[in-house]
Amino acid sequence: MSQKEHLVIFDTTLRDGEQSPGASMTKTEKLRIAKALERMRVDVIEAGFAIASPGDFDAVKAIAEAVRESTVCSLSRALDKDIDRAAEALQGAESARIHTFIATSPIHMQYKLQLPPDAVIEQAVRAVRRARNLVSDVEFSCEDAGRSEIDFLCRIIEAAIDAGATTINIPDTVGYAVPDQFGTMIRQLLERIPNADKAVFSVHCHNDLGLAVANSLAAVTNGARQVECTINGLGERAGNASLEEIVMAVRTRQDHFDVQTRLDTSHIVPTSRLVSTVTGFPVQPNKAIVGANAFAHESGIHQDGVLKHRETYEIMRAQDVGWHTNSIVLGKHSGRNAFRTRLQELGIQFETETELNEAFARFKDLADRKHEIFDEDLQAIASDSKSLEVEERFKLVCMNVCSETGVIPRANVTLMIDGKEHTAESDGSGPVDATYQAIEAITSSGCSLQLYSVNSITSGTDAQGEVTVRLERGGRIVNGLGADTDIVIASAKAYVHALNLISTDTQRQHPQGDV
Ligand code: KIV
Ligand code: ZN
Repeated sequence: MSQKEHLVIFDTTLRDGEQSPGASMTKTEKLRIAKALERMRVDVIEAGFAIASPGDFDAVKAIAEAVRESTVCSLSRALDKDIDRAAEALQGAESARIHTFIATSPIHMQYKLQLPPDAVIEQAVRAVRRARNLVSDVEFSCEDAGRSEIDFLCRIIEAAIDAGATTINIPDTVGYAVPDQFGTMIRQLLERIPNADKAVFSVHCHNDLGLAVANSLAAVTNGARQVECTINGLGERAGNASLEEIVMAVRTRQDHFDVQTRLDTSHIVPTSRLVSTVTGFPVQPNKAIVGANAFAHESGIHQDGVLKHRETYEIMRAQDVGWHTNSIVLGKHSGRNAFRTRLQELGIQFETETELNEAFARFKDLADRKHEIFDEDLQAIASDSKSLEVEERFKLVCMNVCSETGVIPRANVTLMIDGKEHTAESDGSGPVDATYQAIEAITSSGCSLQLYSVNSITSGTDAQGEVTVRLERGGRIVNGLGADTDIVIASAKAYVHALNLISTDTQRQHPQGDV
């Protein structure tokens, strides 16, 4: 039997994924996600955009030094200074890739770059050459390729491969393509470019029309051998192609695809949860593969069929993507060592003993209220930890909420601000509203609430509720998270977390903005 060709999985959760408004992550959070991606055996991790800010540089550097089993990549525009900065950040990597890009569509060249096509080719060639002098693995992307002219793409790609590009990426930057046309485009490029066999062809699809996964798969059918994607489909605007959907489509339909990936798919659900917890972007229940209902059968006919023969209604096994791995791991009597060991197994490491001790205290407190502690609970405890990178100006000291039928809900909240306690009381339309009004009475933050959502971390009425609060102030958006078995307390924690995030100085507002 002939061996199938390898499909390279390039994850850009930490770069394009971070471009979702409010999804910015700290270095520690990025490291945790990078380690999870490595455990899942992702081939390439795009760790960030090194020149975008000192924070981005540090994150790419830390990931390059920590990851050994995946290639670590940094994005760079086709500019000398970007390429040099990327190479510097990647110095400690076992396997490093520089990803350089320039726009190739008429609209981008004319209005954004204000350069004639020949000058764009010249700049691309110069960038690829410079990158190849620094690392052996260079990816070149034609930004907005989905709206570029095929003749021009053939010219610039041939020149980029001659200059040393080892991967050529065809992004559908604005999510404009449709599967037939995009697949045909990839086939034509492979057929028409004389040196196409010297590089791996890749695709990077955005989901503006909900077609990112379909377009990526059409490209694979037509010869693409790398797909760029993100966990949970996170990414700029409507997001990128979702990693879990691409990988499981290829794996489930081996009768159709001539390729296979090297991924350990049993890490998909835990990694999805981790990304959702860290970014504060909940996963919709009906999301393919990783949504809470992805393997739930509601109709009696379906349930009956599955009980008789699983394949009647299931095309994948839930455990193959990591569902049901949430067996009880720890309980009330578990000690500090068991706690630390399980966290290490989940790739969670605290920078100081004090942080570990604080997390352990939170674990004990939770175990008193909830007998069975799952991995998901531990992830929430870790995310709840005071991060060294986020100043904790505001702290929830205590709260008292009254919610009774026929009585207007009232909340009394005490916060510590810069070491001093402040208390306020307020009414509201519900207990959460009253709590938020009381917090605002204390802080007068001037933030507007853009999103409030509650999810149950595990099942059962004793489960922790995880609340996401998105706040906006002066164009800056943050997502605060809070977890507790009491959802009103979780709501207060999430609001306070968001206030801390919005008050922490950041070096940039948008990772791919003007750098
Ligand atoms: O969408 C896009 O074009 C990109 C490139 C930088 C690859 O993210
Ligand atoms: Zn993109």
